[in-house]
Amino acid sequence: MPEPAIDTILVLDFGGQTCQLIARRIRECGVYSRVLPGDIPLAEVDAFDQVRGIVLSGSPASVHDAGAPAPDPDLLCRGLPVLGICYGMQHMMHRGGGVVSATHVSEYGRARVERVGESPLFAGIPATFRSWMSHGDAVERVADGYRRVAGSEYGAVAAVESVDAAAPPVYGIQFHPEVSHTEYGSRILGNFATAICGARRQWDLTSFEQRAVAKVRAAVGAEPVVLMISGGVDSTVVAALLLKALPADQVHLLYVDTGLMRLQETEEVHATLHGLGASHVQVVDAADRFYAALAGATEPETKRRIIGDLFIEVQRDAVRQECSDGFLAQGTLYTDLIESGRGVGAKAHVIKSHHNVAAPLIAERRDAGLLLEPLASLYKDEVRRLGEALGVPAKVIARHPFPGPGLAVRILGEVTRERCDLLRAVDAIYLQELRSRGLYDQITQAFAVLLPVRSVGVTGDSRRYGEVVALRAVVSDDFMTAEVFPFETAALLEISARITNEVPAVGRVVYDVSSKPPATVEWE
Ligand code: XMP
Repeated sequence: MPEPAIDTILVLDFGGQTCQLIARRIRECGVYSRVLPGDIPLAEVDAFDQVRGIVLSGSPASVHDAGAPAPDPDLLCRGLPVLGICYGMQHMMHRGGGVVSATHVSEYGRARVERVGESPLFAGIPATFRSWMSHGDAVERVADGYRRVAGSEYGAVAAVESVDAAAPPVYGIQFHPEVSHTEYGSRILGNFATAICGARRQWDLTSFEQRAVAKVRAAVGAEPVVLMISGGVDSTVVAALLLKALPADQVHLLYVDTGLMRLQETEEVHATLHGLGASHVQVVDAADRFYAALAGATEPETKRRIIGDLFIEVQRDAVRQECSDGFLAQGTLYTDLIESGRGVGAKAHVIKSHHNVAAPLIAERRDAGLLLEPLASLYKDEVRRLGEALGVPAKVIARHPFPGPGLAVRILGEVTRERCDLLRAVDAIYLQELRSRGLYDQITQAFAVLLPVRSVGVTGDSRRYGEVVALRAVVSDDFMTAEVFPFETAALLEISARITNEVPAVGRVVYDVSSKPPATVEWE
């Protein structure tokens, strides 16, 4: 858990949807930031070196709720600058004797902010700017010891600051600077982190890489390390880092071919790893076991469970066989830690499990001090930049996400080798077309889905029943929401014609025009 001793801004998480974005934006300003549970006790915060300031996040709660979330009061008296965002500001005002009410002004969406006077928080920012708001409660009266420094076009208090120049400054803003719809949002967070808190811009991926390499060397010594490779960005970047830190013969890379991968995927993963200097790459061909286990299963959750359970078993056996008691590395990211509720953030969601090694094995190696998670403090975009610096091919870095259960969640109904082969052929044509048309990088995720229905068609003079495939292409920032990619009609028609010409079993191609919500990205 201990982080590098560099200047740090802590973000206390009270459950706001965009809490993670606050830390990401501060890091983009070059200042290290991390998210901690909103109610973390002062003693635990004191364990972090070089904390320069504290941000209180938004929350779905109201300050008037019973059990409304709150930071440790001692933390607010520790002499550090504080910035409260949305609920964070309301908490500070309520605590200080101001009035926060639900009946005053609620704002959802865009609102103009108008400043009244100067504030270091808004240095270099115009007197009015566009912001993004999302609040039911609002500050009706500012607490004693603070002054209002900005209002919204609808009359809400948009920003406050403490007036006692002798004490560490406290700021509050009603809008969300972390959201891209807020103009100058990064500048505001940067002003807070650097000018107000005095944090130095010490967060960059070159120094991260040097520290990570040194840490791996110090932890591992001459012991072997085994890493499960999924073919995705995270595990590939860990492989590149291990291969930079250690002699190749210490690094054992394992890849399970479940038979649910895309065309040529296993070969491409192999080539990428060799390109990074790997010498021990073990491909475990488990396709037959997966097809056998999936036979007859049609219910989506049953399919996922079968795949998850078998994956865990195959991985565990492969890891034990390859390296019975060495180090185990995995590509856990900061968001994975948060989602699994491991010590950070207020909310625990479901961990993405399939790319991670079986929990008992992880627990076993962690308890023995043999677990390496060198990316555990990084966000995805930081991992991509680190990967670039480590020489991971651009094609891997820009790869669309691919779900752990693979093609199985894109074959509706029973999964068989034949149906996987068919979908692989369609998917390969689709992705190849997107690449050759220069569309791949404009789309966040694209894939084909094989439907469990057949539809009538004509070939020559005869009528026949053919398979139906759906094409999906979405654009998304975080997969919480996703927009349909707006293809030119001609492109879709040409792609469809190529699919039906080259995969004769397919009689019909449809394009999925549903955004998320209400649809999900995957069909199962
Ligand atoms: P949904 O379908 O939930 O997908 O809108 C959002 C993102 O999550 C991916 N996804 C998964 N990834 N295991 C994974 O590793 C899974 O079971 C899984 N289900 C969905 C999906 O591909 C998309 O990127």
